[in-house]
Amino acid sequence: MRPAFVFGTRPEIIKLAPVIRAFEERGVKPLLVHTGQHYDYEMSRVFLEELGLPEIDHHLEVGSGTQAEQTGTAMIKIERVLMDERPDVTIVQGDTNTVLAGALASVKLKIPVAHVEAGLRSFDRTMPEEINRVLADHASEVLFAPTEEAKKNLEREGITENVYVVGNTVVDAVLQNAELAERKSDVLERFGLRPGEYVLITAHRAENTDSRENLAKLVEILESLPMIGIYPMHPRTRNRLKEFGLWERVSSIGNLIVTKPLGYLDFLRLERNAFAIMTDSGGIQEEAIILNVPCLTLRYNTERPETIEAGGNVLVGLEKERAIGYLRKLMDDEEFYRRMASAPNPFGDGKAGERIAEILMGLYEEGKLKVK
Ligand code: UD1
Ligand code: UDP
Repeated sequence: MRPAFVFGTRPEIIKLAPVIRAFEERGVKPLLVHTGQHYDYEMSRVFLEELGLPEIDHHLEVGSGTQAEQTGTAMIKIERVLMDERPDVTIVQGDTNTVLAGALASVKLKIPVAHVEAGLRSFDRTMPEEINRVLADHASEVLFAPTEEAKKNLEREGITENVYVVGNTVVDAVLQNAELAERKSDVLERFGLRPGEYVLITAHRAENTDSRENLAKLVEILESLPMIGIYPMHPRTRNRLKEFGLWERVSSIGNLIVTKPLGYLDFLRLERNAFAIMTDSGGIQEEAIILNVPCLTLRYNTERPETIEAGGNVLVGLEKERAIGYLRKLMDDEEFYRRMASAPNPFGDGKAGERIAEILMGLYEEGKLKVK
């Protein structure tokens, strides 16, 4: 069997690494296609190195662009590779433009698509990610839903065949790397941080960074932090802050450390030892609850409602009073902190990657891995 993995951004590399590893452990050598949606060293290569992934077979160097430019260019380049290589299945993960391009290019060549992290819905069609998720799910032959809730979302859209609830591979990644991070990373020492005494912040989502009004709200939150903050900043946010004339304000905040994006081991150690996390990231909402760190999500909706229901995550949006209010409550109310920090992980046992490899290999052997 020959599976092709198509990926192109930081979270896809992190969350697909356990699946790639599971195939390799079963003697299957996958084809690796990197679209180049993320291209800076600290947004891509650092993860390939840290996670010990094999050499990439095809670098497509798609780069940045408008939604259609990026998706269209990726589709054209992915199609060429898939026509040459004819893999048995194309595996994509998540909701980026790379995922949509990979899924569409593949299914039209009648190469079945397996979607890892299928069935997530924010029910907010203004997000590019929501469009990508919905379309990728409908182009897929095999759907790996992380939770029962995700499976129900698929059912509501009439997708009922070949749906497997396997957990989220983010748990595999965290379990495989958390101890290593604790041993190898010196990130706390480098930045002079003490465990439990800082808040970790990330925000990069289009809806928070592409309008000056929303980005200014984020800056207000940063200016009001009641404790030390560290913000490994996505290049999109850095660029927008400069473009909108907000960079000086951010860089002059006394108790805020702004740094380049960090490698996975550094980032995991920072997460694990944080007092709390403020983020608009999908993967970081998941990692926070896995690592028992309270999460305040800088959004008005989430496609990870399981984290809210479990009690480990609160949607605070971009309202300063609400965001800082919750951070203060965590600082002042021990019982509230304890409850958030002990919310159960809803994303499975860390064996999602193995299940995915087993299921796909089984379907292949039974001759069932075909576009219907
Ligand atoms: C993309 C995904 C988002 C995901 C995120 C992970 C889509 C629609 N969005 O958002 O769901 O959460 O990846 O981090 O696919 N840039 C660089 N260097 C890089 C990559 C990007 O400087 O290596 C800058 C460029 O200015 C670029 C901007 O960041 O225009 C945005 O990059 P893009 O890939 O379009 O989207 P992300 O914001 O990274
Ligand atoms: N991450 C990282 N370094 C950073 C920021 C994030 O290694 O500086 C990791 C994080 O641990 C998580 C993933 O990147 O696994 C999340 O990526 P991102 O927030 O870019 O994307 P999203 O999950 O929102 O799609």
